[in-house]
Amino acid sequence: MNTFSALAHPNIAFIKYWGNRDNTLRLPSNGSISMNLDGLFTRTTVTFSPSAQTDSLLLNNRPVTGPGLDRVSYILDIVRGMADLPDRAEVVSENNFPAGAGIASSAAAFAALALSASKAAGLNLSEAQLSILARRGSGSASRSIPAGFVEWKAGTNDEDSYAISIAPPEHWALTDCVAVVNAGHKKTGSTEGHALAGTSPLQAARVDDAPRRLEICRQAILRRDFAAFAEIIELDSDMMHAVMMTSHPPLMYWQAATLEIFHAVREWRAAGLPCAYTVDAGANVHVLCPREQAGAVEKRLRDLPGVRDVLVAQAGGAARIV
Ligand code: DP6
Repeated sequence: MNTFSALAHPNIAFIKYWGNRDNTLRLPSNGSISMNLDGLFTRTTVTFSPSAQTDSLLLNNRPVTGPGLDRVSYILDIVRGMADLPDRAEVVSENNFPAGAGIASSAAAFAALALSASKAAGLNLSEAQLSILARRGSGSASRSIPAGFVEWKAGTNDEDSYAISIAPPEHWALTDCVAVVNAGHKKTGSTEGHALAGTSPLQAARVDDAPRRLEICRQAILRRDFAAFAEIIELDSDMMHAVMMTSHPPLMYWQAATLEIFHAVREWRAAGLPCAYTVDAGANVHVLCPREQAGAVEKRLRDLPGVRDVLVAQAGGAARIV
């Protein structure tokens, strides 16, 4: 019997992953860039056991069956194939952030699963191999394997589509203030959303322009150029949501409070407070700012109507065995 536990952070995308060239392999239509979120994490323990009849999953102390378990078994099957291991596994996973906070948990979950399951099966995978394995469970999970500021190269096949660190967490004291506006469950999950991306007439333009945005974002991070960073992350987020809103059927993740925060953030920035917004497949707004301004940004966000809570995170490290 072999047990390993691993911890991984969620991440916030600055250049978004939206749409796949291959939905099964999760080969993305475009590359993406993100930052891991320190302080927030998923911890997962995997035990392969010859006596287990089936795979099992306990998530935040609740047994999970059906599609949730199938998605985990899919990764375990890949690991069993690589390790030539027949055993079923017990998976126990916990998030330290509230399920309803609107922080995508699949990135941290599949990064922690890829690391703990491969180690428990006796494999010693490279960072790239772990990123590929995590990607098969959830695309954004590929980016929760390496440390700090991360770029997932779109690649062309299963072997070359993985994420690498472009700068360590300590490179830039950037803070993410997550304004939680809607704690409810999202109506359409990312997986279904990716499948709709191609139905928007705007997706082709968004994908064609992605190398340019990736380059601007990469350079802004490497130079710690907040003004350039602010402009490109807001553009990229708005472009993804434009694709979502013009898909068939259309997806509208924003709430009234989401839009209120956009306007406030732009006013604050125009008045000299460095901050910028980005939104994933939900209504909550991630407001990025230099660490020195985080206190002021958090306070201002809390004072806005419709903001229920604000979570604050710095750049986080790589997925690791604990
Ligand atoms: C809007 O990685 O959650 O957060 O591969 O189907 O699990 P699956 O999708 P997921 O998609 C993330 C979408 C996004 C943008 C991003 O994180 O890049």
